[in-house]
Amino acid sequence: MSMEAQANMGTQANMGTQANMGTQVNMGTQANMGAKANMGTQVNMGAKMDMDSKAGIDAHTPMIRTVNLKKHFSTPKGQLHAVDGVDLEIKTGQTLGVVGESGCGKSTLGRVILRLLDATDGSVYFEGKDIFRMSGHEMGEFRRQSQIIFQDPYASLNPRLSVSEIIMEPLIVNKVYKSRHDMEQAVYRMMKTVGLAARLINMYPHELDGGRRQRVGIARALVLNPKFIVCDEPVSALDVSIQAQILNLLMDLQEELNLTYMFITHDMSVVRHISNEIAVMYLGKCVERSPAKRLFENPMHPYTKALLSAIPVPNLSRRGKERQLLTGEISSPIEPEPGCRFAPRCAQAGPECLGRDIPLGECEPGHFVACAHV
Ligand SMILES: Nc1ncnc2c1ncn2[C@@H]1O[C@H](COP(=O)(O)OP(=O)(O)OP(=O)(O)O)[C@@H](O)[C@H]1O
Ligand code: SF4
Ligand SMILES: [Mg+2]
Repeated sequence: MSMEAQANMGTQANMGTQANMGTQVNMGTQANMGAKANMGTQVNMGAKMDMDSKAGIDAHTPMIRTVNLKKHFSTPKGQLHAVDGVDLEIKTGQTLGVVGESGCGKSTLGRVILRLLDATDGSVYFEGKDIFRMSGHEMGEFRRQSQIIFQDPYASLNPRLSVSEIIMEPLIVNKVYKSRHDMEQAVYRMMKTVGLAARLINMYPHELDGGRRQRVGIARALVLNPKFIVCDEPVSALDVSIQAQILNLLMDLQEELNLTYMFITHDMSVVRHISNEIAVMYLGKCVERSPAKRLFENPMHPYTKALLSAIPVPNLSRRGKERQLLTGEISSPIEPEPGCRFAPRCAQAGPECLGRDIPLGECEPGHFVACAHV
């Protein structure tokens, strides 16, 4: 097993009951690798904007909207409700952070939104268009414009392909360029964009360190000039020192290319820095959704409070604030009973929390909570 795979398993093992305490990203003091790397990007933003206005997309249409989205898996024990009625929006050019413990449905949600998995019920709208009702041509465009960056670049890159071949593959599949020379130039530009030295072009994934491998994964995701990217734990498998570089790169690319991200992570410190809004998931449900700043200032759902209380606090004045350890059994996602799924672990649980599903309600502008006591 590779070092990174081991590190990755270590991170996940920590997440049973707490937020990941491992990553402290000081975004202010890290070298800004991404800004330097971006010099080579060639994106025809004018053409993109023109397309958008022709498609009738106004400034208020979110890039992504889900309505009552569900994904259930058939298992020998019954239907496993991995995603169970999720409503969310991701505004164009912004980042929605999605957090929650292992198994709460974050990756499944991302894959259903990208239509890599079929939904059981509900809708996903991409710039106002229902992705489950798209024509073949529209679906092709959606596939090009929406991409994914995976957690473990080593596992997600084909070990038999060189850097050049990996980045070129989407261009070949989508027949973007007629000449090989143009395609190679595009690969060089993309490598420069993500901060990969040109001398690495013929190397294979096993010859690169984790940070460079993830840069290859990012280059592959960006080469078709997408609008929307699901980043599924893109830094969890990397050394802490490399994580900040990759996060900075992703943020710089977002600004430069007006990208929209759904950023999945266990790590509350990371999500705070990178997100405009945050959705907290618990056993297939979104239990709280809010602008990032407000979530940290004023968490309302007992589960969110417990997650945030587990973040290490460098500030002495906040030391001594009670850390809420989550106890009690996690209920099963298989054929769950109606009622709050967090109840077995919630100190405030009462009869009013059981027997009925508790929908998200708006507690302050843009801040939604699913709790009988809020
Ligand atoms: N193909 C599948 N068949 C059956 N169950 C599945 C399948 N894929 C995921 N699940 C289950 O769906 C639930 C959600 O899984 P998912 O991978 O989306 O969680 P996650 O929040 O991404 O977890 P992690 O943080 O560990 O990546 C889990 O209970 C998982 O076991
Ligand atoms: S609904 Fe009840 S059990 Fe669920 S989080 Fe709120 S108080 Fe706790
Ligand atoms: Mg996952």
